[in-house]
Amino acid sequence: MAFPKNFLWGTATSAGQIEGGALTDGRTPSIWDTMAAKPGRIFGGHTPEIACDSYHQFDRDLRNLCALGVNSYRMSISWSRVLPNGTGQINQAGIDYYRRAFESLLEKGIAPCVTLYHWDLPQVLEDRGGWVNRDSIEWFGEYADKMFTAYGDIVPMWATINEPIATYVGYALGGFAPGYTNEVWGNQARHNILVAHGKGVQAFRAHNLQNSQIGAVIDIWKRHALTDSPEDIALMIDQDERNWKFYCDPLYAGRYSDYILEHLEREGTLMKIAPEDYGIMSQKTDYFGLNVYNRVPVTHNQKVQADFSQGGNFLNNRTEYYPRAVYDAIVMLKEMYALDIPFYVTENGTYFEGDEPVDADGMIHDDDRIRYVQGFLSYIEKAIDEGYDVRGYYLWSLMDNFEWSAGYNFKFGIMSCDREGKTAFKKSALFYRDFIAKNR
Ligand code: FCB
Repeated sequence: MAFPKNFLWGTATSAGQIEGGALTDGRTPSIWDTMAAKPGRIFGGHTPEIACDSYHQFDRDLRNLCALGVNSYRMSISWSRVLPNGTGQINQAGIDYYRRAFESLLEKGIAPCVTLYHWDLPQVLEDRGGWVNRDSIEWFGEYADKMFTAYGDIVPMWATINEPIATYVGYALGGFAPGYTNEVWGNQARHNILVAHGKGVQAFRAHNLQNSQIGAVIDIWKRHALTDSPEDIALMIDQDERNWKFYCDPLYAGRYSDYILEHLEREGTLMKIAPEDYGIMSQKTDYFGLNVYNRVPVTHNQKVQADFSQGGNFLNNRTEYYPRAVYDAIVMLKEMYALDIPFYVTENGTYFEGDEPVDADGMIHDDDRIRYVQGFLSYIEKAIDEGYDVRGYYLWSLMDNFEWSAGYNFKFGIMSCDREGKTAFKKSALFYRDFIAKNR
């Protein structure tokens, strides 16, 4: 069978990972600029200050997108570039940058898919308590409203937030900015960002935009118990509940699960939930933005774990090759929440750690990445064949970029990008270009 005619073929990036121009033309720091300035927080002391320099080299990105033959591009807006104080006065230079980017994409027949919040909270708002402060819901609502005013006429596809779990990692686990390790804050922050998402959807509806849709982007890392012992099943359930279900339940079922409410209550980390929050979080969206990278096998049994680690099907980077993860996620979500909205796979990709070897012909032969992408695409095709409504695929990522706490050491690009901003096709980019040409 085939991918539908209007299927969106894209690549994905985010502002904080590619733009650079950290303090250019009125932008103020985000929590990631602050985090990067602290010694020991990011691999190799790397910073997003210059990154891929897309703020100055968007035309290079556009040329690369055209060369790939994509018909959509997922990118995000840097909140502190368009609203340097987080709220209030807009920064015209920032507004103009994105306007020009969206217009030039559209001129080439590439539909911008724009994420409002991809982890880069303005530091000025973090200074006021960040996502732990309930006011963040209003801050985000204002920001979203202003973006719909600025670009509502040209952007066909919006995402409110990307992977809300990142706020939990930032406030409870410390691995992401702002780098706190406080469970109570983590739970409050992730609750607040879900309500903020709903505020964003409400603002979008108020603008009554024609030919434009909005959704949230959530990453699914389904747990699989490696044995059917009660302990392993319990572990799987616990991790599913605390990870992706925490975000999907309120958005698509209008509530947190009893499991979460009871466990957090007992653990003394339950967040404050206002009665109106449920209604706001569960605003109807137009699509499900699905990020899938892998599944997560779990077990308490060390021998089973060791056997699995040696006998499984792995890529060179030691992650499991399990392309069925995307099919599983689509089938599971559709059923679990009786979803009547389409899916877009808003991120999928794999990485190389360190310097990717360049072959004698001057090219990076990233055959593992090709195998990975090909596998996921064939499972997406399977889902489509079985009648699931999947309307797009965004490969993460267009080019190597600032991979958060891993700095520039984890390379997710189908193109390389050196620290001068020079990009080059990897073999996977050629593969993806040809795949698109064949299936478009
Ligand atoms: C996702 C993030 C994205 C990038 C990829 C590798 O979780 O949304 O920014 O870090 O992983």
